[in-house]
Amino acid sequence: MVRLVLEDPRGRKLPRWTPGAHIDVVAGDFARKYSLCGDPEDPDRLQVSVLREAAGRGGSTFLHETVKAGSLIHIRGLKNHFRLDETAESYLLIAGGIGITPIIAMADRLKHLGKDYTVHYCGRARGTMAFISRLERDHSDRLHLYPASEKKRLPLSTLVGKSNAEQIYACGPERLLDALEEATSDNPEKLHIEHFTATGAVLDPAKEIGFDVVLTDSELTVHVAPDQTVLQALRAVGADIPSDCEEGICGTCEVPVAAGDIDHRDKVLTASERVENCRMMTCCSRARGEKIFLAI
Ligand code: FES
Repeated sequence: MVRLVLEDPRGRKLPRWTPGAHIDVVAGDFARKYSLCGDPEDPDRLQVSVLREAAGRGGSTFLHETVKAGSLIHIRGLKNHFRLDETAESYLLIAGGIGITPIIAMADRLKHLGKDYTVHYCGRARGTMAFISRLERDHSDRLHLYPASEKKRLPLSTLVGKSNAEQIYACGPERLLDALEEATSDNPEKLHIEHFTATGAVLDPAKEIGFDVVLTDSELTVHVAPDQTVLQALRAVGADIPSDCEEGICGTCEVPVAAGDIDHRDKVLTASERVENCRMMTCCSRARGEKIFLAI
């Protein structure tokens, strides 16, 4: 893992951020999102941690191999889709691997606010788990570590079952987040998760079918081809739909659905919101049938 501490080359103040926020780091041909994990009160520096993912799409390897102290890199899009609700009194923070980066910022903030919280952090081995010494220094009495190499496993269902925490925040691999969704299915509104990436976000036209989108307010019908997203088809006819991640993880491109069966492919809506069948993320979700009606 490499830690990047970013400063403005002309000494200007950097934007303020809150725990859970991320920036896009743009280097070479790559633009990748990284959670901020430094001190939100420091106006001169932003900090991100980049795990080298050998099986990834090349962005983290490029950063590891080319960025040196003093390198000029660009950042953009400071956003927060994983915002900490500070109104609760007690919190369960759960991190798997590099998912610790937004979680440590939340732990710092909750400590500062004097809230009741515990941090549960699992990973392959202590040597591969980022921020252990910092966590032990700043959150020792709240910290529970589960390195797999020490045969320690995160007891997810017991933890969730026994915890009285009002809010649960988690970031980590898909398997961990899926298990957590399952464990909190009785009370899904207390769970807040951040996915590293969407799964199945790439369209395979050979497996997709085209369908019509009927815009009920503007009385327009738009065809979505098998190799197109709803967002692309709507923009092609001039509809102004905002978007950010375009991977189904931020919620910016949501539109209301009046009728039709939705094939939800996002990571934003909860299971109960999906069942309601009244909104969809246009950057990734599709129609199951031949037509879907959007209230726009
Ligand atoms: S743009 Fe982020 S969910 Fe669609």
